[in-house]
Amino acid sequence: MRFLLLTFLTFLTLNADTVYEKGKRLYKQKGCGGCHGTKLEGMHRYPYLANRAKGFLTYKLKRFRSREADNQQQEMMIPFAMNLSDDEIDALTIYMNEYVDETSTKRYDDSFYQEGDGGS
Ligand code: HEC
Repeated sequence: MRFLLLTFLTFLTLNADTVYEKGKRLYKQKGCGGCHGTKLEGMHRYPYLANRAKGFLTYKLKRFRSREADNQQQEMMIPFAMNLSDDEIDALTIYMNEYVDETSTKRYDDSFYQEGDGGS
């Protein structure tokens, strides 16, 4: 029984690694880093993608894939999302969500703190 559990856990970890690696490969192949940065940090008007919610990233990519965009700026994403399969979107979003900068262990702080009274 313990052996089975161990095999299962090993399989899970191996599998997770592969999907992350697949996403990483895709991110490079598709040239996403050209706009969003090689460390997913974003630049200018291109949003950062590191460690953001998988659901949000998936929603956005699927929307761009079906050629929907809210403004001209976003239309830029359509050609890059157009040919992605569900599997590729899955791998890409796992990579982005779990992204770890290999040169540092710091993750982006996503928490929101309200400062001041919002008035003056
Ligand atoms: C030519 C530049 C360019 C390339 C290449 C590019 N993107 Fe984008 N991406 C954008 C722009 C512009 C937006 C929309 C920003 C906005 O909403 O104003 C965007 C938005 C996104 C968003 C939604 C993020 C948000 O905050 O709304 C995701 C997810 C995303 N891109 C993933 C990718 C992936 C994955 C690739 C590679 C397959 C890629 N992008 C390639 C320019 C690019």
